[in-house]
Amino acid sequence: MKALVLSGGSGTRLRPITHTSAKQLVPVANKPVLFYGLESIADAGITEVGIVVGHTAPEIEEAVGDGSAFGLRVSYIRQEEPLGLAHALLVSRDFLGDDDFVMYLGDNFIVGGITKLVKDFRESGPDAKILLTRVSDPRQFGVAVLDEDGGVIGLEEKPEDPKSDLALVGVYLFSPLVHEAARAIKPSWRNELEITDAIQELIESGARVESEVIDGYWKDTGNVDDMLEVNRIILEGVERRMDGEVDDTSQIIGRVVVERGARVSGSRIVGPALIGAGTEVIDSYIGPYTAVSENCRILDSELEFSIMLRDSTLTGVRRMEASLIGRHVHGASRPRVPNAHRLVLGDHSTFEISS
Ligand code: TTP
Repeated sequence: MKALVLSGGSGTRLRPITHTSAKQLVPVANKPVLFYGLESIADAGITEVGIVVGHTAPEIEEAVGDGSAFGLRVSYIRQEEPLGLAHALLVSRDFLGDDDFVMYLGDNFIVGGITKLVKDFRESGPDAKILLTRVSDPRQFGVAVLDEDGGVIGLEEKPEDPKSDLALVGVYLFSPLVHEAARAIKPSWRNELEITDAIQELIESGARVESEVIDGYWKDTGNVDDMLEVNRIILEGVERRMDGEVDDTSQIIGRVVVERGARVSGSRIVGPALIGAGTEVIDSYIGPYTAVSENCRILDSELEFSIMLRDSTLTGVRRMEASLIGRHVHGASRPRVPNAHRLVLGDHSTFEISS
């Protein structure tokens, strides 16, 4: 059995971060989201992995390399344009050969991994298996309709009027039959070859498509709110560790990690929170569910429930909340007069200012 990890795409929902960086490499709890997926593939006993890459190929190849750090053998498959999940399958035809495989969306996060799912698929051998989870607003997802025995009758991509609340999770198990189905479909209204259409095609050709409703936690980290939520969930599990320097005037409360080479002075940090290697936190407050990456500097500021990527600084800024701060970002306060904000924002940035 092989794995196909989809790490191309356009990442429009995470702009401007994705103008300069692959969304699959944005760290949650200071580790790229893609790495959690690769680890669960290795845990499931799969070693042969193809990673589909688009314009961010160099960055992903540099981060993952030959996969040996994960116990995997990784090949890279170039998808020239993000023409859909089923298109990613088509370009991976040679790599996949006639093997069964798990297709894993590189920006998805599943608590509890995929070991049992892969084992069950190997044992029961359907033509395809999809994972489903109940969601409150199915209109943003691929949605499945099941018969009384859990067999999949039909699928719809982002339906306006959903027939069920069962959304497709970004992990699919396929036999080689799916290749023919992917070749048979036409692009959707958004000009993508949809994986839901390929699975629908499989069902209509009489293939056995099974489903499993997972009750574990799943999130697609494609937008900022979901990324902050996954960060929160992972931080819930961290253990307190002080490898950096914390002075006597600082207060560290709860499950906080201060990495080697980090320095905390005159500050209060309330966990769960991570302070990355080489980062300085001076005269500041860091609140729960915050992950600060390496080599940042937070001075006289307050930051809570946020992700701050490496080499960024905050000086005199209070208070920042529910924020995703990119790399090499510099935020500072300015004198009171004139009472105005001054911003230098990249294309597709978002800002919200309290008034
Ligand atoms: P999506 O998040 O559905 O698509 P996207 O990356 O284009 O993002 P947005 O909607 O914000 O513009 O993609 C899910 C995963 O699959 C993600 O890791 C990117 C990857 N992908 C490909 O590798 N090739 C593709 O053609 C598409 C559409 C996605």
